[in-house]
Order: sequence, then structure tokens, then C-alpha cells
Amino acid sequence: MRQMNPLRPEALEPAHGEVLEVGFGTALNLEHYPPGVTAVTGLDPMEVGAVATVSERIREAAFPVERKTLRADGELPFDAGRFDCIVTTWTLCSIPDAAAALAEMHRVLKPGGLYCFIEHGRADAASTARWQDRINPLWRRVCDGCNINRKIDRLVESAGFELANLDRFRAKGPGIVAQMYRGIATRT
Ligand SMILES: C[S@@+](CC[C@H](N)C(=O)[O-])C[C@H]1O[C@@H](n2cnc3c(N)ncnc32)[C@H](O)[C@@H]1O
Repeated sequence: MRQMNPLRPEALEPAHGEVLEVGFGTALNLEHYPPGVTAVTGLDPMEVGAVATVSERIREAAFPVERKTLRADGELPFDAGRFDCIVTTWTLCSIPDAAAALAEMHRVLKPGGLYCFIEHGRADAASTARWQDRINPLWRRVCDGCNINRKIDRLVESAGFELANLDRFRAKGPGIVAQMYRGIATRT
């Protein structure tokens, strides 16, 4: 995921206050959060206990960080409206029940809070989208559950978020995995 580092600062720029990062991975976002962030809670089902670089990144962060080994598509152990911001970066592709995770993310976000994301997903061009649909079953098996054909904006809106901004662009790499959705959504 390191090759995505140049895209992280802009996606994280609106984050502030107490942040819940879903799909925390190996803590690659921590150094890119802006100064207004006061704490980060990171959720990920992946075990990284023995990975020294992850604990090092957490230790070096400019704010307190708590990492929980937990999947997001179940009930989250947080009160409704607990967080100022929710963040996902290249994670909605990998969550088996992304709609359930987004519903929980919506619940734990404060009214007026922000959901900041950068995700890859379904192409607008019909020909690329057809290839994505064809390749997705194999891709998901080989690439750890990653789906390349999810319509991210529709998923986000279906969970009750209101899209305040959405940038669609193609990043470097093969077209089927380079279709980016960078956005800010609100809970009204
Ligand atoms: C492509 S990686 C991105 C990691 C990180 N967000 C980044 O930007 O480097 C996808 C992440 O989603 C996590 N993931 C998979 N299923 C999940 C679930 N049910 N709930 C939360 N995270 C999940 C994976 O463990 C993995 O860390």
C-alpha cells in the first residue's frame, strides 16, 4: 500500500478531532493526518502484533492511537455519535459486507461529522466496468477479498451519508484497479 502514499495527504486533509479509521492496516495513514487530529482509533481484523513497524508508527504519532483487532462489518463497540471523523483508505473494497460496515460508521459518527475516504472501485466507462465484473471473482480470491467493481459513491449514500465532495480520477496502474473515488461525506 506504500505506493499510495502520495494520495494520502489530500484525502486526509479534512480530518480533525477524534478519528475512527476503519481498515487501519499497517498504520500507513498516521504520518499524513493534519494537525487538527487529536486521537485515532484504528480498526482492522488483521493481526499485526509482531510487526515492529506498526508499533513504531503508532508510537511516533503526534496524537494517541488505539488499534483494535476487530472487523467493521459487525456491531462496533462505540456509542452513537462518538467520533468527529471516520476515515477509510482503500478499505471498502475488502470488507465482505461493506453496507453493514458503513451503517455502523454512520451510527458512530457525530451529527455534522465528516467521513473522509479514498477508495478504488467501479469504472464509469462501461467497457472497463465489464472487465471489472469479469475479473472480480478471480481477483477477490487471489487478492485477499479485494473487490474491484464496487460503486463506492452509491454504497456511501445508501448508508445515509450525504456526499459533500467527490473526486473521480484514474491513478497509476492497470485501469481495472486504478479508478479512484476520493470524497467527503457528512452525517446530517
Ligand atoms: C488494501 S488494505 C488498506 C489498508 C489501509 N487502509 C491503507 O490505506 O494502507 C485493506 C484493509 O482492509 C482490512 N479489512 C478487511 N476486512 C475488514 C473488515 N471486515 N473490517 C475492517 N477492515 C477490514 C484489511 O485487513 C486491510 O488492512
